[in-house]
Amino acid sequence: METREYIERENRYGAHNYHPLPVVLEQGEGIFVWDVAGRRYFDFLAAYSAVNQGHCHPKIVNALTTQAAKLALTSRAFYNNTLGEWEELMTRQFGYDKMLPMNSGAEADETALKLTRKWGYKVKGIPKNEARIVVCDGNFHGRTITIISMSSDPESYSDYGPFTPGFINIPYNDLDALEKELKHPNTAGFLVEPIQAEAGVYVPEEGYLKKAAELCKQYNVLLIADEVQTGLCRTGKMLACDHENVRPDILVLGKAISGGMFPVSCVLADDHIMLTIKPGEHGSTYGGNPIAAKVAIAAMQVLADEKLAENATRIGQIFRDQMKAFNSPLIAEVRGKGLLNAIQINPIAGKKAWDLCLKMMENGILAKPTHEHTIRFTPPLIITETQMMEAIALIKQSMTEFV
Ligand SMILES: Cc1ncc(COP(=O)(O)O)c(C=O)c1O
Repeated sequence: METREYIERENRYGAHNYHPLPVVLEQGEGIFVWDVAGRRYFDFLAAYSAVNQGHCHPKIVNALTTQAAKLALTSRAFYNNTLGEWEELMTRQFGYDKMLPMNSGAEADETALKLTRKWGYKVKGIPKNEARIVVCDGNFHGRTITIISMSSDPESYSDYGPFTPGFINIPYNDLDALEKELKHPNTAGFLVEPIQAEAGVYVPEEGYLKKAAELCKQYNVLLIADEVQTGLCRTGKMLACDHENVRPDILVLGKAISGGMFPVSCVLADDHIMLTIKPGEHGSTYGGNPIAAKVAIAAMQVLADEKLAENATRIGQIFRDQMKAFNSPLIAEVRGKGLLNAIQINPIAGKKAWDLCLKMMENGILAKPTHEHTIRFTPPLIITETQMMEAIALIKQSMTEFV
């Protein structure tokens, strides 16, 4: 079958809830993917930062296949001999009392919201059904009805109402607005992305997170950090919160926690929060399954063994320096941290970020717009300097050919 036929088949039989670039991939290794015609591309999306460790990392593949051949799923009706090992690793690594495993990022965020409300009623003493959770405009936490109830993006929420109440939207990076809402006695939590990735890689002012954490403490409100995309070395530290030495009360992880091998996510918190949820009050059939546990353990190991935080810092800086110095009328702004970067594109002659992505695809670089005029550049964190320089040359070439 040819590229066109694969695309036609998906379009014919699949829901149209995505708008993919017209490339059909069949293989991946490290920072590269190959299409069905055998063409190689630099993957500068890395499955929205899930593939931080690179495609098909042999250690993660081995963890998957070994465990899959032994025991895949028990449900949490029984104990299994792998989950505890993963929980111990994660709680030690991140410094929390307990971990709660789920599958997708959205589920982990939902879990964090439920925990926050439970804590609000059981510990803070908020009157029944009155708990408020403060969130930021421009947020992206996933696709469930409750999560899109917090969204300020019409594409995410339109025609999906009625919405879940109890969320208060404030502008991102605005501490005065935050303090005003934290003062309300029924505020249980503040859910925030340390960098708003989906919104277009918006890095808040230095000190924002630190001050937000202090305010949350002052008003006895839980700080919930959604590090599904920013976490696990993407921004040059294990967590984006680490840049400001912030320890959230609830930490939400997903994506790269499995190195792109399997849907795995989790929530970390201390006992006074986590143990407010009792047996039977929350769960997931697949959450904490033996494959997920072994895959996540291997994926965490790779982050440390291959020093991916350090690499993200170094190579990310090269990317931003090179692109900022590149004199192209297409570039309005280059921003980001570590290897979570974006370029704001000046639309020229009616052409948008999407059109530039098509041009880059022709030249062997896969990247995707996030919103109309922004392109995110987030390769796997294992990318070397030589590979990055080669990719940058192709990105520059694409921009030059484009205008
Ligand atoms: C910050 C953040 N939270 C949550 C999610 C949702 O994750 P999932 O798609 O695995 O549900 C995403 C996905 O992009 C995300 O970027």
